[in-house]
This record gives sequence, C-alpha cells and structure tokens, in this order.
Amino acid sequence: MDDKPTSSKLGNAEFLEQYARTGADTLGGQVLRRFWHPVCLSKDLKDIPYPVRMLGEDLVAFRSPGGTTGLVSSRCAHRCASLEYAQVRPHGLMCSYHGWAYDNRGRCTDMPLEPADTPLRSEARISWYPTQEWGGVVWCYMGEDKENPPALPKIDILARTDGEIVLERGDIRAYNYLNFMENFADMGHIYVMHMLEPGKVPPEVEPYVNTTVDTEWRRITHRTFETDFGMKCVLVHNTADENLKYVNTWSIVLPAFYRFGGIAAGLPPDFTNDRRESGGMLRIIDDTHFEMFRFQLIRPGNFRAHFYPVATDKARGVSQGLRGTVELKDYDFRKYPAWEGLPQVEDYVLQESQGAFPDRSKEFLGTSDMGIIMLRRIYRIAMETVRAGKAPKLPAADENGVVWTDTFKGLIAPNDIGLSPANMPSSENGRGLIRDRDGNLAFA
Ligand code: FES
Ligand SMILES: [Fe+2]
Repeated sequence: MDDKPTSSKLGNAEFLEQYARTGADTLGGQVLRRFWHPVCLSKDLKDIPYPVRMLGEDLVAFRSPGGTTGLVSSRCAHRCASLEYAQVRPHGLMCSYHGWAYDNRGRCTDMPLEPADTPLRSEARISWYPTQEWGGVVWCYMGEDKENPPALPKIDILARTDGEIVLERGDIRAYNYLNFMENFADMGHIYVMHMLEPGKVPPEVEPYVNTTVDTEWRRITHRTFETDFGMKCVLVHNTADENLKYVNTWSIVLPAFYRFGGIAAGLPPDFTNDRRESGGMLRIIDDTHFEMFRFQLIRPGNFRAHFYPVATDKARGVSQGLRGTVELKDYDFRKYPAWEGLPQVEDYVLQESQGAFPDRSKEFLGTSDMGIIMLRRIYRIAMETVRAGKAPKLPAADENGVVWTDTFKGLIAPNDIGLSPANMPSSENGRGLIRDRDGNLAFA
C-alpha cells in the first residue's frame, strides 16, 4: 500500500467521525459495502419473508420455492407497504397489499390491479442486493457493482471438515459493532476485566488447568501483526517451566470476523491441548446495532463440556436476567447488577457501557491499545482507498476461496515460537497451529 500523503488522506478527526459509521453516505459505510456480509442462516429462509436491517437499510430476505435466495428493499414501490408481509412466490415476492410482485433483482413482474399492458410495470423497481449461500449462511453484497462483486470470502471454520461445526445466531446488541471488534484487538482487558472474579472451572477440567502460567501483564510479551487476512494479536506468557511458554492468539478479518482458540471458558485460562476453535462474525445492522453469529469447530477427542448456556437461534437479544456468577446484592442498582464472573457477559456489559456510538475522539489510548491502533490503521487505509475510488484490500483467500485465519492457544516450547510477520502461525495445512522457523508444526 502506498502510504505517501495524497489528497485522500484522512485527518484524525474525520477518520474518528467516519470510522464506525455504517450508512451508504458515510466513508465507513462505503468501506463496509465492499465486503460480503452475513444476512441469516440458510435454515432461516423457509416459506415466509425474513425481515433484516443491514447497514442501516431495511430489507427482506426470502427463498423462492425453487431454492433461490433474494434480498430486496422492504418498501413496496406502490404505496410503501412492508414486504416483510409479502407472499413468497415462485418468481420472488408478491406484496400482500395490492399484489405488486418483484423478482430477486427488484424488477416488478406483476400488477394484478392494473391493465395487463401497463407501462408502470417496467418503471416500478425496488432496490436489491446479490446473495450467495455458503457454509449454512446466506450472504449479501451491498456494494455498487452488483454484477461483479468480489469473491465471497469463505471463512475457515465454516469451511472445515475435520470436526463438528456449531453455528448460532440471534444475539442482537444495541451498540456499535466496532465496540465489539475493538475488544477483539485488545488482549489486555483479559487481565483486568476477566480476572476480577476468579473463573469457575468445572471439576472435570481441573486436571488440565495449569496454574503455573504467569498472568502478570508486564511480564507478558504482547504483539500485533498485520496479516494477509487482516490482523492477529499474540500473547506469550512465561510458565513455571522454563521450557514451556503459554501462547494465546486472536485473529481479526475485516470487516467483522473474529477468531480465537482453546476452550471457550476464557478464564481462568485453560492450559489444555484443547483444539476447540471458536469465533464468529457480526451482522452489522446499523450504527448502533449488530447481531452475533458465533461458530465453533469441535474436533473429535476434544473436551466437550459446555461452560455456558448454549444460545439458540430463537434468542432475540440478550436473555433476561443477564448476569455473572457473583452474588446479587440488593443494593446493586446498576443496569446489569452482579455482572462479573462470565467473560461473555463481562464483555457485553463493558462494550455496551462505552456508549451506543462512542465519541472516540475523547479516548486516551495507551501502549496496551496497540491492537486497536493497528485495527484503526487498517480501516483508515481502507477508507482512504475507497475514497480515492479504489477497492480496499480484501482478506486473502486460497484457490478455493477459503480465508484461513488460524488461532492458537496452548503451551509451546520457547524456541518454537516465531514472533515475526514472516513466521506467524501459518494458515497452510495444520492451520490453527504455530509453525517453527523451518515451517514444521511447532505444536503438533
Ligand atoms: S403497497 Fe404494495 S402493492 Fe400496494
Ligand atoms: Fe473479553
């Protein structure tokens, strides 16, 4: 990327104002429109329309009886009735009010209350977006070039065949999606927020918990790397055994994929050789809302106990009574009383507490925020590129379109850790594992 100053350079204030925006008339939103986004799960599209707000636009997804999916504006061109109440027909959707019908390119195909040869039919149009189905998910591309969208990035966990994939959606949150993504570039918060309350390890995991890992932040090596898929954050801890380090890595793929390794329990950190790989992606609803799509790959032989209640695709928003594991005090009048004890609840509460659309110009970043700074730099370059009328860097994929993002969490011999961009955990073969300098799996 050419970093020379150009007329497209963004000032800091302008960057911070536009960075987290999602609308079509914003620079942030224009960057988002250069990427594919998850709409819903394939199984969500049955015989009725599926209302879905995407990047600030109210849309309806549907599946024709023939199996084709579509995504169109929810506003009927006739008198603005919502197509979420439309009828699914072989050609597309028929508005239930007066029968105007649309195909999956937003063209009007029928006006039953008008003369058969009405010229209105060729004029009435609603907006539409291309869709694809892959990995059990319906995806859309909301960029201007609908005829030539970029290749769909097949995010690795959903492409894996070496384990059981669990895919869930339905957790809708009322704050900006970058509050969440920036949390994934911020490994320091583990050692404060997630350690305020000692985690409770199920008894069957206890034999695998290695409490000799040194979790004092100032003795942890913390690095971030820009990668061909996005970026990666890495922590290397000392352990009581000088021949073993404990390594934890997180990956981010633009615009809103995240990936981590190990048992989902979070804290206390599990020090098993567990190969459960977890991550997710966000459906960006608008500036102040997103929906989480979580996925996990659970490989045979892994520890399979559930640490948390399992979300279901019926869930709408966070379940009532969201709280942690600590005692509920009768004088706790905070919005989320007794919030400590479960990492996912802790993340939720603090991310939401930053504000639905935080004024990031009021922040005061420190050295532990290096991941956030890197993420913003990647966004800034993407925004400047799009403003110059060019396509931003897309996540690199293999010849099958799969974006390998690899994560690693576990114990490793110090000499096997290659902490440089050229020696990052490889995405090829044995993905998810760290390779040594000779390209061999360092932790097979
Ligand atoms: S409002 Fe849709 S057909 Fe009349
Ligand atoms: Fe967290």
